[in-house]
Amino acid sequence: MPSRPTPKKRVLSGMRSTGKLHLGNFVGALDNWVRMQDQYDCFFFIADWHALTTDYADTSLINENSVEVLLDWLAAGLDPERCTMFIQSHVPQHAELHLLFSMITPLGWLERVPTYKEQRENITEKDLGTYGFLGYPVLQAADILIYKGDFVPVGEDQVPHVELTREIARRFNMFYSGKRSSVFPEPQPLLTPAAKLPGTDGRKMSKSYGNTILLTDPEPVVRQKLKTMVTDPARIRRTDPGNPDVCPVGDLHKIFSDRETIAKVDVGCRSAGIGCIECKSWAADALVSILNPMQERRKKYEENPRLAWDILESGSARAGKVATATMSEVRDAMHMSLDYEAPGNAQAAK
Ligand code: TRP
Ligand code: SF4
Repeated sequence: MPSRPTPKKRVLSGMRSTGKLHLGNFVGALDNWVRMQDQYDCFFFIADWHALTTDYADTSLINENSVEVLLDWLAAGLDPERCTMFIQSHVPQHAELHLLFSMITPLGWLERVPTYKEQRENITEKDLGTYGFLGYPVLQAADILIYKGDFVPVGEDQVPHVELTREIARRFNMFYSGKRSSVFPEPQPLLTPAAKLPGTDGRKMSKSYGNTILLTDPEPVVRQKLKTMVTDPARIRRTDPGNPDVCPVGDLHKIFSDRETIAKVDVGCRSAGIGCIECKSWAADALVSILNPMQERRKKYEENPRLAWDILESGSARAGKVATATMSEVRDAMHMSLDYEAPGNAQAAK
């Protein structure tokens, strides 16, 4: 008999529906996801409910933003034949599991989450003193555990959320799994190697700093943004030598350029043999050569948005099947099954 291949481990990750993605999203996450598609059974979703935890007051753009994220995923090379892509709110079982988890999660666990404290202190322009914002990591735990994800590719800042997910899984299993094997496995974070991607102002590339290069920026825009990008501050005149290791443009080269170009930049910058304008045009060349094929791929879906929506529909159908199966196990474990259970049998079943 032919031996059956061992099932692939499952990967689950999400991205908030922030609208058009930038190079930082690509280098920090998306590029990694694209490479995981064949090795793992991947579920990637657009976390629109998570977006609501901070942007609840105006939802007029939420759907549009979700679709923009999907288009950028497809542009970057996520392939509906090789991974499952969907929108969180299209699989309402996430909310059901979130509710059950919220019953067993001690408040202290949530108040201790580092991103909670940070964001409460840093974001002052909206009221984040809401129930939903505090419960954000509980929703994330439901997102992960409903698919029994083995691995969760995330950045450093999200590791405490995966830790909390493990604690919630353990607590659920302790209360409800009885003598049966536990309902939830404990997922592991897969740390995305954090390439430091600077924005045009030299700070970390981030939508909130307004220093991004979008995956959809056309060539002239990319070149213009590069022109105004900050450089090694010690290199004031063309004749001053510089240091690519302290220059944000130097960082871009290290991530996107080939070895020869990196070497040429290193020598030329340190000896004042090249000017920043020339150096930046090489960096722009590298970016354009990465963005061009993405924008080409994106076009097909932009011209026919129905195609993109179909991908979401079949993605949520596939995700929904897994989520429904998990919820039925959860209901059984909690004696809240939809199936008739004869009175008095609950204890006997244990
Ligand atoms: N919290 C994540 C972020 O802000 C997004 C997210 C939501 C997520 N649910 C998830 C990531 C589940 C991984 C797994 O980036
Ligand atoms: Fe930066 Fe390039 Fe100018 Fe050197 S030559 S300071 S690496 S932009």
